[in-house]
Amino acid sequence: MADRNPSDLPRCPGVSADDILARDDPPVPAKLRADSWRDFGTAPLSASRYTSAAFFEAEKAHMWPRVWQMAARDEEFPEPGDVVVYDNLGKSVLLVRQPDRSVRAFWNVCLHRGRRLRTEAGHAADLQCPFHGFTWNLDGSLRDIPCRWDFAHLSDEAMHLPEVRAAHWAGYWFVNWDGKAPPLEDYLAPLPELFSHWQQERNFTAIWVAKVIRANWKVVAEAFMEAFHSITTHPQILPFTGDSNSRYSVWGDHVSLALTPFGVPSPHLGDIPEEAILEAFSGGAGRTTGEAMPLELRPGMTARQAIGARNRQALRATGFPGADQASDSELLDAWTFNVFPNLSPWGGYQTNIVYRWRPWPDQHATLMEVRILAKAPEGQPVPRAAEMLFLKDDEPWSSVTAWGRLGGVFDQDMGNLPHVQEGLISSPNDRVELGRYQESRIRHLHATLDTYLEGRV
Ligand SMILES: [Fe+2]
Repeated sequence: MADRNPSDLPRCPGVSADDILARDDPPVPAKLRADSWRDFGTAPLSASRYTSAAFFEAEKAHMWPRVWQMAARDEEFPEPGDVVVYDNLGKSVLLVRQPDRSVRAFWNVCLHRGRRLRTEAGHAADLQCPFHGFTWNLDGSLRDIPCRWDFAHLSDEAMHLPEVRAAHWAGYWFVNWDGKAPPLEDYLAPLPELFSHWQQERNFTAIWVAKVIRANWKVVAEAFMEAFHSITTHPQILPFTGDSNSRYSVWGDHVSLALTPFGVPSPHLGDIPEEAILEAFSGGAGRTTGEAMPLELRPGMTARQAIGARNRQALRATGFPGADQASDSELLDAWTFNVFPNLSPWGGYQTNIVYRWRPWPDQHATLMEVRILAKAPEGQPVPRAAEMLFLKDDEPWSSVTAWGRLGGVFDQDMGNLPHVQEGLISSPNDRVELGRYQESRIRHLHATLDTYLEGRV
């Protein structure tokens, strides 16, 4: 797998995302213009990677216990004594805010008879098992054992709650079961550098929605890793979405990006008037947490510039330092990053989407969560996270009104996925064919997954 010169990519002929970014004023920072891509070839994937119980068990044994998993965001548990529960594949962790506002993570298992110490997030003075009342301090040290005389054989040290590795980046808390895994900072590189000036630690979860999708976790994740499906799945966004212009980047084993320009028409449509682009965008799928400021196309302005100007004004209204230097791309485009295996934090200033995917509970179903992050006004505390809304099977994403028409776009995406799973289960040739460029991030995910499954990490 050789690194490629960007001019040599097997990408869509014509205008590239980089050509569009090059016209932005204020300019896009050089660190974001720098591309990184690897050619993963053209081989098909085996359909059984998504459907086989044995493959799922191999992921459970060799991959999930060794990766950094996003467990929470800061604004879910800001106060000392706030506790978050993170569950995945039968393992459960408590993240506990300490009096000094640092965070400790503990295995969510009572050291007495094994009950989960908590099943829900909340606020607590201590960690007390609801079964017999064994109690721990917030720092994991033993506080009390009822009828201690009967447990004289147990020292306080032996009864300290076992800790899980936890690390922090941009408002996210990650946990890792593996003591030998690389530090989070190395695992995420170069995300911390690319994200630093967006100050997403000042963002908060304004909307949070979850739903079980009847498809393998990779089927669901991969549906959000390329813009190629827009032409058929989301035709209504084509007037303002440069789907085939997208840049696909990969860094190392764990980080990738789909950069899809907005405010420009799809190459599938050809040239269309700027007014039509803006009109489609206004009625379309802009990410929002409520009533957006109006869009205005002044003489000589492109639709992209008009949307950028509106979003820059919204950023300015938060008091964000440097809002005037924010490029249109960072205010508008889909900077859809992925962190292996199951997190997709969108880059940019605001408003940002975050996806997380967990098996729920087997290879045929996934808990998909969508968050919308908004930026806290400067000088004010970051608000608490919105409560997660758990949609039932018969409730569409569009039943959430707070995010405007975005819910309809998610319904279009999710509508495909149970049928993908059904088709993969009944595949006549056990093959999944992928594009070489537009689906290279999917190839990247599977290449990294193999490094874990084959013990090459
Ligand atoms: Fe989509």
